[in-house]
Amino acid sequence: MAFQTRVTELLGIKFPIIQGGLAYLAYADLCVAVSNAGGLGQVTAMSLKTPEQLREEIHKVRKLTDKPFGVNFAIGQTGRPYEHMLQVAIDEEVPVISMTGGNPAPILDKLANTSIKKLVLVAAKRQAQKAEQLGADAVMVVGHEGGGHLGRDDVGSIVLIPQVVDAVSIPVIASGGIADGRGWMAAHALGAEGIEMGTRFIATKECVHASVAYQNALINSGEMDTVVIKKSIGAPARAIKNSWTDTILSIEQVNPTYDALKDYVSGEANKQFIYEGDEHKGFGWAGQSVGLIEDIPTVQELFNRMEMQAMDIRNKWK
Ligand SMILES: Cc1cc2nc3c(=O)[nH]c(=O)nc-3n(C[C@H](O)[C@H](O)[C@H](O)COP(=O)(O)O)c2cc1C
Repeated sequence: MAFQTRVTELLGIKFPIIQGGLAYLAYADLCVAVSNAGGLGQVTAMSLKTPEQLREEIHKVRKLTDKPFGVNFAIGQTGRPYEHMLQVAIDEEVPVISMTGGNPAPILDKLANTSIKKLVLVAAKRQAQKAEQLGADAVMVVGHEGGGHLGRDDVGSIVLIPQVVDAVSIPVIASGGIADGRGWMAAHALGAEGIEMGTRFIATKECVHASVAYQNALINSGEMDTVVIKKSIGAPARAIKNSWTDTILSIEQVNPTYDALKDYVSGEANKQFIYEGDEHKGFGWAGQSVGLIEDIPTVQELFNRMEMQAMDIRNKWK
């Protein structure tokens, strides 16, 4: 059974399934596993320290797969300059660049005369329309269920996705809350032509940088066990609830300023949990789809399972 859409055609992939940028987790290992399984794997550029490290990571990917892959730029969140990293991705002629977290115009302009496919991750209809005007090839739309940084308007995927589908003519890729073949098919029913998953891919064998504690927390958490932090400073993001996020939320109640929060929401605090597994010293991003995650399969096993679920759903409608 074929799963062809404008997204599979655009990106040259078998399944319209994209691995989201995953800060400090999406390196060559995971990217290659997803691309080899027929989806689009990505390397998260801003998790690397230098442009040369990005070049090495891209070379590593190319050694392990001849399939298309992407490089992700979360440009607003770190505040770090990204231009040199972007130049490396352009020089290396990576097949796809995705971007989020800030004004995509400078990146889209720079990519305009290249053959690199341009994906913009947005969280609102107006942002999707803007991305289309600026030259994006497709938009990924993340709803409030998603893990990591979210839109400010708290709109869930099931409402957001069809509105974006109606508002733009480029393909829409649904993101936020999808972890299995049921969510995948639901996204297509809403008019999306592909999906992006973040949280589900952290709970796979090839997400080798995730600590056992983080992966176990994904398995053991239910749909109520995530919280949105940083909303008070205008940068809402969803994480697994733990004692560290309790502290963050209590600070937000009394002193909702970046200065008061910065040490608690830093990349260092993030790494303490996701790499070291210490929930008293840090936090890990995750979406509400943790309620659907029960195991740590290989990426290939996950794709096989999703394909079976998708075929079952499609067969029911014959
Ligand atoms: C741990 C984690 C880190 C993330 N880091 C990034 C990032 O660096 N760049 C990006 O574009 N999106 C990032 N995201 C968002 C994901 O790419 C994706 O949009 C989101 O996870 C989709 O929702 P889901 O978690 O319900 O699948 C991150 C998400 C998580 C869970």
